[in-house]
Amino acid sequence: MSLSPQIPSLTPHARLRRRTVAAVLAAAPALWLDAWAQPARRPTPAQTEGPFYPTALPADADHDLLQNGALNYPEGRAVWLEGSVADLDGRPVAGAQVEIWQCDHAGRYHHPGDGSRADPRFQGFGRVTVGADGRYRFRTIRPVPYSGRTSHIHLKVRLGGRELLTTQVYVAGEPGNPRDFLWRTLDEADRAALTVPFAPGDGGLRAHFPIVVAA
Ligand SMILES: [Fe+2]
Repeated sequence: MSLSPQIPSLTPHARLRRRTVAAVLAAAPALWLDAWAQPARRPTPAQTEGPFYPTALPADADHDLLQNGALNYPEGRAVWLEGSVADLDGRPVAGAQVEIWQCDHAGRYHHPGDGSRADPRFQGFGRVTVGADGRYRFRTIRPVPYSGRTSHIHLKVRLGGRELLTTQVYVAGEPGNPRDFLWRTLDEADRAALTVPFAPGDGGLRAHFPIVVAA
């Protein structure tokens, strides 16, 4: 006589049902985790445009602010500012235009309101249109502080005729941040979203600034 317990054999239909239930139970936690791990993303916080958006765009308005037409700009600390433009679901916003503008190494903007005294070799403004991967990249200088402001780069995102975002990018660890009248009004989450390291990397400094917009 066998001592092993008798296991009732299942009909093929019952076996299939058991396997299906097991598969659903096994997959369910993964599905829940997926849904919880990827909530709608937080949009990049907006900031004021400030007084120095260009009154006229430079003839050279590409991604490389260190090359203005035929002029090379050797001042300041070169940086690659890069990232991607995504919507609230994390999808790339193909066709979005990213613009940046900032002062030169001496803190001067190409703007009549700032005396139009910026270094002519510095492009001061750049615009790129992102492709299917949503990625953008600018060659510029690490921003410098000027009277009344901590270091920052102005940034704007457009899509077609719509302006999706105007904001400012700050340098992590900059001593002037806590004194800046705009930076210090940001809450912790907004500071974290707008303040990024400008860290040594390939080709000088690198700064990664991901952008999330309601497209
Ligand atoms: Fe500014």
